[in-house]
Amino acid sequence: MDLDIQDIIIAIDGYSSTGKSSFAKRIAHSLGFVYLDSGALYRGVTLLVLENGWHEGERIDTEKLEPALHDLDLHFEDHGKGTRTYMGERCIERQIRSMKVSALVSPVAALACVRAYVDARLRDLARNRRVVMDGRDIGTTVFPDAELKIFMVADQKVRAQRRMDELVAKGEDVSFDEILANLQRRDYIDSHRAASPLRQAPDAIVLDNTNMTFEQQMAWLETILRERFAR
Ligand code: DC
Repeated sequence: MDLDIQDIIIAIDGYSSTGKSSFAKRIAHSLGFVYLDSGALYRGVTLLVLENGWHEGERIDTEKLEPALHDLDLHFEDHGKGTRTYMGERCIERQIRSMKVSALVSPVAALACVRAYVDARLRDLARNRRVVMDGRDIGTTVFPDAELKIFMVADQKVRAQRRMDELVAKGEDVSFDEILANLQRRDYIDSHRAASPLRQAPDAIVLDNTNMTFEQQMAWLETILRERFAR
């Protein structure tokens, strides 16, 4: 994108598998912004829970988890192949995208202690930088003052198909019905939990990309950036 814009925070929220992270990554790349993937941090905490066995079904052992969050170093590194999520020195990018993590992440993300941890991490990582962030509550809770807020939506079956294509490309053996069920559950939990439910900020612009190509989305964004933030 050939565009010189002001230093702003771009917050992208919306339902699972609406393409928030692909969109945010491309924006970061085109504009030279730092990309922060808040879902990856929730997934990192979920991996910690799974690897330590701190759960029974969907009941998370917060007595074990909460103190462990004090020393948990989740961050992002980019070694030329795009942003990767790290737990300390260990790259956990592949593990956090598995179905096991996807199946447990919503109950983990519903915990107040986990939300406080991730919010603090995000604010810290965003300090003094031009950032684009994606998640569920970036424009409402984490950065309510973000200069540009986008709320992404798309038809549920179209989203399930996108997720399926992604997982199949990674060699995971999954069925469409399993993915659709997981997506429906996540939509429900994400928008009904007590702590920071998924909501559209009043000043967010809706982007429904059910029938849009990636290039059309970028063109849509470019118009907004030109109108509002060009220097
Ligand atoms: O975007 P994702 O699918 O990687 O997110 C994983 C989960 O994390 C999702 O089910 C909801 C939760 N999440 C959240 O509650 N708040 C955010 N800001 C980002 C993600």
